[in-house]
Amino acid sequence: MSSIADKVVVITGASSGVGESTARLLAGNGAKVALGARRKDRIDALVRDINAKGGSALGFKTDVTKRGDVEALVKGAVDRHGRIDAIVNNSGIMPIAPMAALKVEEWDRMIDVNIKGLLYGVAAVLPIMQKQKLGHIINIASVAGFKVFAPGGTVYSATKFAVRALTEGLRMELKADNIRCTVISPAAVATELPEGSSEETTRKNLREFYKIAIPAESIARAIAYAIEQPADVEIGEAVIRPTALDF
Ligand SMILES: NC(=O)c1ccc[n+]([C@@H]2O[C@H](COP(=O)([O-])OP(=O)(O)OC[C@H]3O[C@@H](n4cnc5c(N)ncnc54)[C@H](OP(=O)(O)O)[C@@H]3O)[C@@H](O)[C@H]2O)c1
Repeated sequence: MSSIADKVVVITGASSGVGESTARLLAGNGAKVALGARRKDRIDALVRDINAKGGSALGFKTDVTKRGDVEALVKGAVDRHGRIDAIVNNSGIMPIAPMAALKVEEWDRMIDVNIKGLLYGVAAVLPIMQKQKLGHIINIASVAGFKVFAPGGTVYSATKFAVRALTEGLRMELKADNIRCTVISPAAVATELPEGSSEETTRKNLREFYKIAIPAESIARAIAYAIEQPADVEIGEAVIRPTALDF
């Protein structure tokens, strides 16, 4: 039996891309997944598909900018399964534009989803994991959290630098509670993410950049690897790029 089997894993942003792929891979290996995102129709379809294949999935309409939604997602998993082994804080948006375009609402949204949404995930699981003396917090950052992706991705990069800083701080603070912390930093993965930019020229440039993109399952496998380690082994971080990418 895989060491993923029977683990209860909460995944935010599971309606597409990396989150959906991770849900399928973990559930295929016997994990019990609790899935959240705003597009409930897509979450419902994914849950049906996983359960029809003999897996175990629960779905929730979750907007990670609403703390109550994230709490309800985590509570749903605990009510059903009695515990939480891991959370994958995966929800993220990347509307790219130069700073001079003053897309202040998009700056706000990136901070709300990529940083505050992730923190709400941490807040929802922390008391449970501390009580269990066991848990795993997996945060999705980006290579843009190592290098500033400018012009265009300055605020996005800032949010992903924050995700790395938060994960490192959590790691240092939570070791006494036997809670593992992992940050996964992908680059150019073939998902809907680059389509979230409001400027057509930017979307066109990103499509060019994404021609060498790797499948979302490449990231799902790294998440599965971190989860399947024995409880005393913590995979701190992984950076996953297309081999051909020079960024
Ligand atoms: N693709 C890449 O090249 C790449 C590179 C580096 C890092 N990443 C990171 O990987 C993560 C997953 O992105 P992806 O590439 O898989 O893109 P994606 O296909 O666009 O998935 C993003 C997910 O985030 C969810 N989301 C967005 N706003 C949300 C909100 N307010 N509340 C809850 N969920 C929300 C979306 O679901 P709903 O819209 O249904 O809510 C969707 O499920 C993100 O954190 C992203 O920054 C991706």
